[in-house]
Amino acid sequence: MSLLEVASLARSFGGLRAVDGVSFSAEKNRITSVIGPNGAGKTTLFNLIAGSLEPDSGTVLFDGEDITGMKPFRVARRGMARTFQAIKLSRRMTALENVMIGRHVRSRAGFPQAMLASPWARREERRIREEAMKAIELLGIAEYAGRETGSLPFGVQRSVELARAIASEPKLLLLDEPASGLNIRETVGLAELIGRIRAEGISILLVEHDMSLVMDISDEIAVLNFGRKIAQGKPREIQSNREVVDIYLGEDDD
Ligand SMILES: Nc1ncnc2c1ncn2[C@@H]1O[C@H](COP(=O)(O)OP(=O)(O)OP(=O)(O)O)[C@@H](O)[C@H]1O
Ligand SMILES: [Mg+2]
Repeated sequence: MSLLEVASLARSFGGLRAVDGVSFSAEKNRITSVIGPNGAGKTTLFNLIAGSLEPDSGTVLFDGEDITGMKPFRVARRGMARTFQAIKLSRRMTALENVMIGRHVRSRAGFPQAMLASPWARREERRIREEAMKAIELLGIAEYAGRETGSLPFGVQRSVELARAIASEPKLLLLDEPASGLNIRETVGLAELIGRIRAEGISILLVEHDMSLVMDISDEIAVLNFGRKIAQGKPREIQSNREVVDIYLGEDDD
């Protein structure tokens, strides 16, 4: 059984079919990528999977459970984490505090309850801090843990967001254009980090425009165009797919 199974998923905005009957699956311990031109429906697809948007039709099965239309926090509790195309972090908090929020998803106490100073809550808080630090160390940004997030270089902020997502120890991590805004050196580093995250047993669903990154790290690639899946296969198959090549060459022309 696949970790994620999306079947005939559809969502329109007014007359626009942003996601138009998309089916695909993502396997455990694999990096599955979704590519396609701007406006192809990639982020909408992520929002439908993670519960930020309700589909008009279709189903989403996650780890054997039907999560279609489920609220984002419930989906998160079941082991799905995500990062966003535009970074969503509290700029005034430290990097560590931002990552701790990610860990609180799994805590028995909600964030406010954990703030109450009962001995149990303090122990829980210490555990959360330790788990958050583990995620921070995994991503190699320990030196920034105590710094105000808004003051950090953009590439480091992206890593903080990644650390926050993995701090919840998700089964599946959704990454929406994690390389956007990164320079070449940072993008190479990101590929290595994604590999490290996968080695931790976290499966990955990736939306990305950087084709060398996608071709380099993906096990499987699905291609969207105008809301529809037009191809799926291994990187090599996608690179030699005529329709896909035409779309990307067409983009280069203008
Ligand atoms: N909330 C919304 N209301 C109306 N239209 C929307 C909404 N969200 C997305 N769309 C439209 O749906 C289509 C798909 O958008 P989406 O953001 O999913 O594309 P994308 O593949 O993620 O593009 P990009 O590569 O630029 O991020 C676009 O035409 C977009 O304008
Ligand atoms: Mg998008």
